[in-house]
Amino acid sequence: MDNITQTHIQEAATAVQQMTAHRPSVGLVLGSGLNALADAVENPEIIPYTKIPHWPVSTVSGHSGRLVIGLLEGQTVIVQQGRAHFYEGYSMQQITLPMRVMRALGVTTVIVTNAAGGINSEFNPGDLMLISDHINFVGIGGYNPLRGPNDDTLGPRFPDMTHPYDPELRQIAHEVARSNGFALQEGVYGHVAGPSFETPAELRFLRTVGVDAVGMSTASEVVVARHGGMRVLGISSITNKADPDPKPDTVVTHAEVLETGQQIIPHLMAVIRGLLQRL
Ligand code: HPA
Repeated sequence: MDNITQTHIQEAATAVQQMTAHRPSVGLVLGSGLNALADAVENPEIIPYTKIPHWPVSTVSGHSGRLVIGLLEGQTVIVQQGRAHFYEGYSMQQITLPMRVMRALGVTTVIVTNAAGGINSEFNPGDLMLISDHINFVGIGGYNPLRGPNDDTLGPRFPDMTHPYDPELRQIAHEVARSNGFALQEGVYGHVAGPSFETPAELRFLRTVGVDAVGMSTASEVVVARHGGMRVLGISSITNKADPDPKPDTVVTHAEVLETGQQIIPHLMAVIRGLLQRL
C-alpha cells in the first residue's frame, strides 16, 4: 500500500483512541537507542504498533515498536517508542502515517529525536545537536512524503518550509540545557536513505553542502508535521563520528550507535523535561 488517505489515518487514530483515555497534545518520537526515555512516562498506556491498523512496524534492533501514552511534566504525551525507516521497504507515506495520526489525535507540538553521525569536526559522540534545518536528500531525490494527490484537509499542496524547526522551541531547549549545566550543539541534519553507512567520499560531499549530522530518518516526518501545521523540535543524538577523513582502523557499527544512544539519555531527558515544563 503506497497511498495513505484520510481513511487510513482515521482508522488508525480511532484504534488508538479506543485503547487510551489520554488525549495527548505533545508527540515524542524516539530514535535508535533512545527507547528508555519512554520509561519516565507516568500512568502509561501502552499500545503495540501491531494493534494499530496501517501502522508501519520497525524490524530494526533498538526500536521497540509501541506507543506509550501518559503524563510527563504535567503534559499529556504520546511517545513513539521506535519508528519504521524507508530502508526497511516502506513507502514514505507509510513511514509518515504515525505523524498524521498524532495530528489527528490532537497533537500540536512534536519533539523528534534520532541517532546521527557527527560530520562537523567539532561534534563528539555523546553530544546532542538541536536541528536548525535539514537537507532531505531522499525527498529532493524524489521520495518526498507529500508526493501524490494532496488532501487539502491535511495541509496545503506547497507547504512553506522556511522555519521547519521552531525557533522559539530551540531557544527554550538551549536555555534548559544551560540551566542543567551542559550545552547543545546546533546544526543541519542530512536525511539519507541508508541502510549502508556513508563512504568517506559521501561524507566529504555532505560536509561540503553543509550537513553537520547525518541519519536515516526524521526529515520526511518533519515535512509531514509541517504540512499539518505542527510545531517541531528536532534533536539528534550524536552517536558516532561520521568521519570524512577516516583512519585505517575507523569503523561505524549499529552496536556503537545503540551504546552511545544509551549514554546520551540523561541529557536528552533533561532537555525534554525542561521543555515540557515550559510549554
Ligand atoms: N550515518 C547515518 N545514520 C546514522 C549514523 C551515521 O553515521 N549514525 C547513526 N545513524
